Amino acid sequence: MRNAINKYFCLQNSSIFLFLSLLFHHTLLISGNSPSLLIDNITLDCGSASEGHARDGRIWTADANSTFLLLDPTNASKISSTLKSPMNDAVPYITARLSRFEFTYVFPVTFGTKFIRLYFYPSSYPDFSSSIPFFSVKANRYTLLSNFSSAPNAQDAGLDGFVKEFCLNVEDGETLNITFAPIPGVTDAYAFVNGIEIASMPTKLYYTDEGFKFVGSWNNESSLESNTALELMYRINVGGQFIEPQNDTARMFRSWNSDDEYLSIAKPSALLYNNTIQLIYRNNMTHFAAPDGVYQTARSMGMDKKTNENYNLTWDFQVDSKFTYLVRLHFCEIQPPITKTGDRIFYIYIATQIAESKADVIEWSGGNGFPVFKDYAVTIEPKGNERVQNISIALHPRPEISVYSDAILNGLEIFKLSNADNLAAPNPDITPINPPTAATPSPKSTKSNNNLV
Ligand SMILES: *[C@@H]1O[C@H](CO)[C@@H](O)[C@H](O)[C@H]1NC(C)=O
Ligand SMILES: *[C@@H]1O[C@H](CO)[C@@H](O)[C@H](O)[C@H]1NC(C)=O
Ligand SMILES: *[C@@H]1O[C@H](CO)[C@@H](O)[C@H](O)[C@H]1NC(C)=O
Ligand SMILES: *[C@@H]1O[C@H](CO)[C@@H](O)[C@H](O)[C@H]1NC(C)=O
Ligand SMILES: *[C@@H]1O[C@H](CO)[C@@H](O)[C@H](O)[C@H]1NC(C)=O
Ligand SMILES: *[C@@H]1O[C@H](CO)[C@@H](O)[C@H](O)[C@H]1NC(C)=O
Ligand SMILES: *[C@@H]1O[C@H](CO)[C@@H](O)[C@H](O)[C@H]1NC(C)=O
Ligand SMILES: *[C@@H]1O[C@H](CO)[C@@H](O)[C@H](O)[C@H]1NC(C)=O
Ligand SMILES: *[C@@H]1O[C@H](CO)[C@@H](O)[C@H](O)[C@H]1NC(C)=O
Ligand SMILES: *[C@@H]1O[C@H](CO)[C@@H](O)[C@H](O)[C@H]1NC(C)=O
Ligand SMILES: *[C@@H]1O[C@H](CO)[C@@H](O)[C@H](O)[C@H]1NC(C)=O
Repeated sequence: MRNAINKYFCLQNSSIFLFLSLLFHHTLLISGNSPSLLIDNITLDCGSASEGHARDGRIWTADANSTFLLLDPTNASKISSTLKSPMNDAVPYITARLSRFEFTYVFPVTFGTKFIRLYFYPSSYPDFSSSIPFFSVKANRYTLLSNFSSAPNAQDAGLDGFVKEFCLNVEDGETLNITFAPIPGVTDAYAFVNGIEIASMPTKLYYTDEGFKFVGSWNNESSLESNTALELMYRINVGGQFIEPQNDTARMFRSWNSDDEYLSIAKPSALLYNNTIQLIYRNNMTHFAAPDGVYQTARSMGMDKKTNENYNLTWDFQVDSKFTYLVRLHFCEIQPPITKTGDRIFYIYIATQIAESKADVIEWSGGNGFPVFKDYAVTIEPKGNERVQNISIALHPRPEISVYSDAILNGLEIFKLSNADNLAAPNPDITPINPPTAATPSPKSTKSNNNLV
C-alpha cells in the first residue's frame, strides 16, 4: 500500500495529492478535492531556540531540545547566534549548532527520493571565534562533504550564507541520519550547520525511467540508479531572471539563477521572452521539471544568420574533476515562426563532444509552447593536476537541414553523481590558517544568497 502511494506525486486540477506518512508529524496537510496526503517537509532552524519565519514565507522549527538530535551527553554541542548578521536572510542563517565533537540528526522520514538542503553561514560564533570549521557531513551511506572548510571571518572576506543541495534515496524502513563530524587531527576543528531542509520530491523528477545519454566516446544510454546520490552544481534559467525558491514549481523551493555569468561566447545572442504563451505540459514529469518562468524565457544565437553560422553559443560551468555529471537541458519553442519540425535544428556539444547532431525542439516536444527536457551524462576525466575543469555547453546551427540558422536553450541543471557513495571532491591543499575560498563551486545567485565558500 505504502509502496503504491509512494510511487507518484500526481498533479490533477491544480491540486497536488501527496502521499501519506503515518510515521511522521513534521508534515504538511495539503487539501484538495480528493484524498489529502502528507509528505516529508522539514525546515529545521539549527541553533534556534524559537520558531523562525523566513523571507520565503516558511516557518522554520526550533532546534533547541530538538527531538531530531541524537543525544550523547558526552558530546556537547552548542547552539549559538552569529556575532555578525548575515547579509542575506536571517532565518535560518543567524543561528547555528556547533560542536567540536561529532553530532547526528536522525530524521524519521518516509522512504523515497529526498531533497536535502544544508544551509551554512561561515561567520564568527561565540566560543568558536578562534577556531576553524573543518568537517565532513554524511547522510546515511553517502559522504556529502569532506574536509569542508570555510574562513572564520568569512563576512570580512565578503562571503555570505549559502546552501548546498543534494538528492538521495531513503530506503524503506530507514531513517535519514545526517552526521556532522569535525576532521580528526586538526586542532580545534569544529562542525556547524545553520539550517537543514528535507523535502520529498517526485520520485521520477531526476531518477527518470528514460535515463540519459552518455556523451563522449560511448554515446550509450544509462539511467540513474536509486543508490546514486546527486549534488546540485548549477540550476539556471537561461535567458531569464533569478527565480526565487518560493516561485519554483510544485513548491519544491529550488532556486533558478540567471545565465549571464556563465556565458563565455555569445556574439551577440538574443534573449527570448514570451509571457503570454500558454505552455502545454504533456505529462506530469515535464510539469514538475521547471517553473513556467524557465520555459517562457530563452537565449538564442541572434538575428544574423551569417554570424550564427560562425560561432558556438557557449556557456562554461566549473566542476570538480573525476566525477560524472548529469546535465539536464530544458527547451521550449516560444517564438511564433518556429512551429514545425525542421524549423530550427542545431548541434549540442557538451564538454566539446557531440551530444546531439540534430537537436529539434519541435520534434522532441510536439509543438510550439510544449516544454521538454533532455538528460545527458558526461564524465570529467582527470586532466593533469587540475582539480576543477569546465563543462562547456555549446550550440551551433545546422543551416543545411534547417529553415533558420539558430539554436535555443531555456534552462539547464548540472548535478554531480556520487561515486562509491562519495560526493566530496578531494581536498585542495587546505592549510587551516588560511583556508581557500572554494572547495567546490556552488550555485551563485544574483541575489547573492548562494555564494560559494
Ligand atoms: C530545553 O530544555 C531545557 C531543560 O529541560 C529547558 O530549560 C529549556 O527551556 C528548553 N528550551 C526550549 C527552547 O524549549
Ligand atoms: C512545505 O511546507 C511549507 C510551509 O512551511 C509550504 O509552504 C510548502 O508548500 C510545503 N511544501 C510542499 C511540497 O508541500
Ligand atoms: C560523540 O563523538 C564521538 C567522537 O567525535 C563520536 O564517535 C560519537 O559517535 C559521537 N556520539 C554521537 C551520539 O554522535
Ligand atoms: C540512524 O541512527 C539510528 C540511531 O542511532 C540507528 O538506529 C539507525 O540504524 C541509523 N540509520 C542509518 C540508515 O544509518
Ligand atoms: C557504455 O559503453 C561502453 C563500451 O561498450 C562501456 O564500457 C560502458 O560501461 C557503457 N557505459 C554505461 C554507463 O553503460
Ligand atoms: C515570485 O512570484 C510572485 C507572485 O507571483 C511575484 O510577485 C514575484 O515577482 C516573483 N519573484 C520572482 C523573483 O520571480
Ligand atoms: C507568444 O506566443 C504566442 C503563442 O504562440 C504568440 O501568439 C505571441 O505572438 C508570442 N509573443 C511573442 C512576444 O513572441
Ligand atoms: C498525471 O498523473 C496522474 C496519476 O498518475 C494521471 O492520472 C494523469 O493523467 C497524469 N497527467 C498527465 C498530463 O499525464
Ligand atoms: C563548436 O564547438 C565544437 C566542439 O567543441 C567544435 O568542434 C567546433 O569547431 C566549434 N565551432 C565553432 C564555429 O567554433
Ligand atoms: C572556465 O571557463 C571560464 C569562463 O569562460 C574561464 O575563465 C576559465 O578559464 C575556464 N577554466 C578552465 C579550467 O578551463
Ligand atoms: C582530509 O584531510 C585530511 C587531513 O588534512 C587528509 O588526510 C585526507 O586525505 C583528506 N580527505 C579527503 C577526502 O580529501
